[in-house]
Amino acid sequence: MDHKTEWEGMEPIKRTELVDVDGIPCLKDTADNWQRLWAFKARPDDLLICTYPKAGTTWIQEIVNMIQHRGDPQKCDQAPIHQRIPFIDLFPPKPFPHGLDDAEVMPSPRTLKSHLPVPLLPPSFWEQNCKIIYFARNAKDNAVSYFHFHRMNKGLPEPGNWDEFLENFLTGKIAWGSWFDHVRGWWEAKERYRILYLFYEDMKEDPAREIRKVAQFLGLQLPDPVVNQIVQHTMFENMKVNPMTNYSSIPSLIFDQTVSPFMRKGTVGDWKEHFTAAQSERFDDACLRLLGDSSLVFRTEL
Ligand code: A3P
Repeated sequence: MDHKTEWEGMEPIKRTELVDVDGIPCLKDTADNWQRLWAFKARPDDLLICTYPKAGTTWIQEIVNMIQHRGDPQKCDQAPIHQRIPFIDLFPPKPFPHGLDDAEVMPSPRTLKSHLPVPLLPPSFWEQNCKIIYFARNAKDNAVSYFHFHRMNKGLPEPGNWDEFLENFLTGKIAWGSWFDHVRGWWEAKERYRILYLFYEDMKEDPAREIRKVAQFLGLQLPDPVVNQIVQHTMFENMKVNPMTNYSSIPSLIFDQTVSPFMRKGTVGDWKEHFTAAQSERFDDACLRLLGDSSLVFRTEL
């Protein structure tokens, strides 16, 4: 799965539009490939890492992969993260590889990435009772991160200005749909399936504790020095300069990291630099209205 830099000299890509799949806005290329994705054959020993976009997917991916390699960074450094853990629901324009193609030829046991909400997950994952790790981040920081990601990722729709983007975030008119439905859907699914539901804020607070939870979920016991090695390797500052995790291998035609780096801030509470008091209140109200009757609680500061 060594993808050559075939895209050198390629034309700039066009920003995509959103197309509804069962009422949930998806990138047009994802909607165009829907039947194939829906028919995806999960295997019983697949591990799925699922997140809402910008919840810290890359972080939990690298942590999981380090755990799988018992803390050996050299094993993780063999390929960029998107090649080690294919992203099954992204279909970038050719010649960019599709995660689904990579996943289909990958030997077991596979670790896969998805941003799909519960109703859109290919049914074979449920049928095979696959282990799933869901990583969630508070709505405010998640929205800020997604806004900056829209600015730099030319494969996403135009975000508009901050106020416009926030409106779309609140109403779920963005790629992969409503954050509220996403985090809630997976929270409820964990009652029925093998899902480890983790929070970005908890990982930030005590990475060693959370890494142990992941290891236990994967059936592994890690000695303290290995846990500490994983904590070090997956610290924001280290992942930011690591070409295998910072997406510097994606050409600037797609990810323009001069607009906003992929590894941007990596903190809890950056939303305070972006939200007005009124916007913050609207988000608090929305959380209360849409999540208040669930046991799901997010922290917006540490
Ligand atoms: P910010 O934009 O707030 O900095 P994803 O991988 O789902 O696209 O999420 C990207 C977000 O996770 C970015 O958030 C990025 O900085 C943050 N992130 C990535 N690695 C991290 C790490 N090791 N520690 C903390 N945050 C990290």
